[in-house]
Amino acid sequence: MDIRVFDSDCEIGKAAAQIIIDCIKTKEKPVLGLATGASPVPTYKCLIDAYNKGEISFKNVTTFNLDEYCGIPASDKNSYYTFMHENLFNHIDISEDNVNIPSGNPENVEEFCSAYDKKIKDAGGIDVQVLGIGRNGHIGFNEPAEKFTKGTYKVSLTESTIEANMIYFDSPDDVPREAVTMGVESILDAKEIILIAEGAAKAQAVHDMIKGAVSPSCPASILQRHNNVHIFLDREAAALL
Ligand code: GLP
Repeated sequence: MDIRVFDSDCEIGKAAAQIIIDCIKTKEKPVLGLATGASPVPTYKCLIDAYNKGEISFKNVTTFNLDEYCGIPASDKNSYYTFMHENLFNHIDISEDNVNIPSGNPENVEEFCSAYDKKIKDAGGIDVQVLGIGRNGHIGFNEPAEKFTKGTYKVSLTESTIEANMIYFDSPDDVPREAVTMGVESILDAKEIILIAEGAAKAQAVHDMIKGAVSPSCPASILQRHNNVHIFLDREAAALL
């Protein structure tokens, strides 16, 4: 694991964006795995800057997002569809045809999920996957469980995750309790992974991910088994290492 501790989220953003920029510059058809949440926002800002400076184009880039809430429409202000468009896609030259975000409300969940996994495979797999981490060690929306999950599936969120997500919603009753997420195995299939964690609330999860046993009780710990992972942390998130 390439573990780096930075002084600011802006520096984390620069370092993470550089890996993605290198991928976009070197691959003919780059495939990016993208995450929502506060952690990757500075990275997306740096990517938008690089695009505005003419350093990179997203014309040949395909993206797959990790997850989406169930029970709210894509047009909702809190959907991950809206988040990704506001924080990245609306500001770059990516073709909407190349943007893939799981549907949170598919008619047939199983069919949708296997088609999503197939689309990732058909695109050649994910070159660089961006990840955040939940306070309980979740990645995507893969919550602590008895087994590591495989492909994309519909999941019930834990109380800790629902509580963490509350800050974005007007009322606690509005917070979705289910989501569609890529599974742990699909995340691990990515050729290169960048996990970003910031703030003291992530310190225990970061510790367990890096120093703990590889266990589905801390889904992020599986990253110890991947051979090309970058973990970018601020000082607070790294406090227990
Ligand atoms: C949600 C998302 C995750 C994200 C996590 C952390 O649970 N599904 O993909 O990593 O939040 O978010 P933040 O970066 O805001 O702390």
